[in-house]
Parts: sequence; structure tokens; C-alpha cells
Amino acid sequence: MRITVIGRGHVGGALARRWTAAGHDVTTLGRDGGDATGADVVVVAIPGDSIAVGLAKIAGLDGQVTIDASNTFGDRPAGYDSIAQQVRSMIGGPTAKAFNTNFASIYDAVDAEPIPPSTLFAADAEAREATERLIRDAGFEPIHLGDLAKAPLLESLITLTSTLERGELGPFFYRFHRPGELASSRAISAPHRTVNP
Ligand SMILES: NC(=O)c1ccc[n+]([C@@H]2O[C@H](COP(=O)([O-])OP(=O)(O)OC[C@H]3O[C@@H](n4cnc5c(N)ncnc54)[C@H](OP(=O)(O)O)[C@@H]3O)[C@@H](O)[C@H]2O)c1
Repeated sequence: MRITVIGRGHVGGALARRWTAAGHDVTTLGRDGGDATGADVVVVAIPGDSIAVGLAKIAGLDGQVTIDASNTFGDRPAGYDSIAQQVRSMIGGPTAKAFNTNFASIYDAVDAEPIPPSTLFAADAEAREATERLIRDAGFEPIHLGDLAKAPLLESLITLTSTLERGELGPFFYRFHRPGELASSRAISAPHRTVNP
């Protein structure tokens, strides 16, 4: 896929590295703007209170499938229930909210995990397939919450995730799974627990 990532900081930079390693053609843009013409997917990873000014500097935003990873500790954007809905109104394509509950500082540790960590996401139907693929190509397992109406729920999780991150846990992965789904990985790891009881 041709991916334009708006934001080349911790989140945008780390995702770009992981998707490039997975074989995608990735361009990153910063606060000076740029051109997203020809992108199959646009990813937004800039401060959540800078969406209007940040996207206004990008040419070629024209209905692409969009993934918004932004967060804010401030208010929701005026006139919208979520940052993701503001992003969708500006770019005009099917939109997903994803990666906003994952810590960029540990993206490079994903591959060492015995099972892929989860990424909670919400997506318009037409954005779901590309979003799931890019979540997997970043090393995570997608968990679908529903359509973009669920984006406010994902954005509100910043309160929980940041509290955990600042506490004893630090930056963390999380995993949701069905009962029994990880039985084989438990069998693999069990000997390590019994060698030194
Ligand atoms: N860090 C995390 O673990 C994490 C996790 C989930 C979600 N998020 C969210 O993801 C977004 C990016 O976070 P980050 O940690 O990657 O931030 P960051 O490292 O500070 O990078 C921010 C990026 O946004 C650009 N930017 C800053 N102000 C801008 C503006 N007014 N207009 C346009 N672009 C602007 C910067 O451009 P320049 O490169 O030109 O400076 C930079 O590329 C935020 O919404 C954050 O809440 C962060």
C-alpha cells in the first residue's frame, strides 16, 4: 500500500518504520505539510488539538481511507463527538480510529512478544479491511469495536491508559482474547514456569 503518515514523531515515525519493514511504500509529513496525492491510506498522528491547522497544510487529501491515531487531554473538537470524526469531515474518506491506545515508545518491542498484543479500533465499513491489515503489519492483533461512532469511547481511554502508564506498570501492551484462544501459547510457555518453581 502507499501510505502517507501525517505526523512523523513518536507514533508516525514508529508506524512508518514498521510498515516500511512490512513492504509498504510510506511517506511521512510533519508540521510543514506536504502532498498526500496518490496515497491509498492516510494516517493522522499529530496532536489532537492541531487537526484543523495540521490537515490544512496537506495537499491532495481527497477521500482516501484514513486512520486517525490522535489523542488529546483537552476537549473534543467543537462540533464533533471525536477527533476521528473531525478528521473524516476534512479528508472525506472512510475513516478508522486505531493505535491511539498503544504506546509508541514500545512499538520496537512488539516483535519480541510471544503473542501479538491487541489494538482496539473502530472503523467505517469501507475502512475496516485496510485498517486490520495495517494493524497486523504493525505487529498487533486488531479488535473491532464497531463503526466510527465508537471513536469517542476509544479517545476517552486516554485517561485510563495514561494513568496506568504513569503508575507502576509503565508503557504496556494489552491483549483481549476469547477463552481458549491462547491455549497453544500457554503450552509452549508452561515449561519455563515449572523449571524453577
Ligand atoms: N506517544 C504515544 O505513545 C501516543 C500513543 C497513542 C496516540 N498518541 C497520539 O498520537 C499523536 C502524535 O503523538 P506523538 O507522540 O507522535 O507526538 P510527537 O512525537 O510530538 O510528534 C508530533 C508530530 O505532529 C506534528 N505536529 C505537531 N504540531 C503540529 C501542528 N500544529 N500541525 C501539524 N503537525 C504538527 C509534528 O511535526 P514536526 O515533525 O514537523 O515537528 C510531529 O511530526 C498525538 O495526538 C498523540 O496524542 C501518542
